[in-house]
Amino acid sequence: MSSVVGVLTFKDNNKVPVFGLGTWRLKGKECTSIVKKALELGYTHIDTAEMYENESEVGEAICEYDRSKLFITSKVWPRNLHYNDVITACERSLKKLNTDYLDLYLIHWPNESVPAEETFSAMSELQKRGLIKSVGVSNYTINQLEGVLSVSPVDIVTNQVEFHPYLYQKELLEYCNANKIILTAWAPLARGEILNDPALKRIAKLYQKTTAQVSLRWLLQKGLIAIPKASKEKNLKENIAIFDWFLTEDDISSIDNISIEKRLIDLSFNW
Ligand SMILES: NC(=O)c1ccc[n+]([C@@H]2O[C@H](COP(=O)([O-])OP(=O)(O)OC[C@H]3O[C@@H](n4cnc5c(N)ncnc54)[C@H](OP(=O)(O)O)[C@@H]3O)[C@@H](O)[C@H]2O)c1
Repeated sequence: MSSVVGVLTFKDNNKVPVFGLGTWRLKGKECTSIVKKALELGYTHIDTAEMYENESEVGEAICEYDRSKLFITSKVWPRNLHYNDVITACERSLKKLNTDYLDLYLIHWPNESVPAEETFSAMSELQKRGLIKSVGVSNYTINQLEGVLSVSPVDIVTNQVEFHPYLYQKELLEYCNANKIILTAWAPLARGEILNDPALKRIAKLYQKTTAQVSLRWLLQKGLIAIPKASKEKNLKENIAIFDWFLTEDDISSIDNISIEKRLIDLSFNW
């Protein structure tokens, strides 16, 4: 595989590949074989979570690879944000993933009934013990980020949120840029919703690329990390083949100006 995946540096100085494989809904043997296939194709960054119930299967796929060349993210579920629960959840994830450390550990959804000081002090302890390298959050609004940035003893390096051409979260991106928080786009293809968009189709035709590739390039050129999920080999290959061509500023602004707005999961989602 010739694509060389780009890398960004988090504010804690750890490096992160800007492109990874999302694994939500990949289960059992199928999950292991898709993650293995992705690794063969040159993927180095895998996104999982305790909630996905596939950490053991991801662990089985990554165990044959040089761990130092991989970037593994997992997430703690919002019911587990008290101090001891965070520590136990992380240890459980590490055991399932069959690894000594996570490159990135995220709070999957905010849970305002647990004081942020308590959760982030557990994150700090995990970092001190070498069990996690970087700390981030997921599905946080600007207000929620403001609340945690002021109390966290550790750097919050990323906020993983829904972000795609039908949900251009400009204000959140600007806030995160100003605070050196790199946004990670979940559902970067809006689970297929954007694939037939006319503006994306027009741009894809210009470069002889697909609308999925155009959407991913738009995210990368905006400085985000993208973690599309794919199970078909054709899609796995297509998604990683985005590092040898560029969108122009005009292309980017055409995508910025797509007027359709579609949020797949409401932030009031009741976990
Ligand atoms: N933090 C959070 O709360 C949160 C929430 C949701 C998701 N996530 C993470 O983000 C990842 C990605 O999000 P997602 O899985 O919801 O949605 P997505 O990546 O936007 O879309 C996945 C869908 O797109 C299809 N697809 C992939 N590449 C394609 C291509 N090149 N052409 C056409 N179709 C393509 C896949 O099909 P095939 O499988 O058939 O290839 C799959 O049906 C998740 O897997 C998970 O790791 C995080």
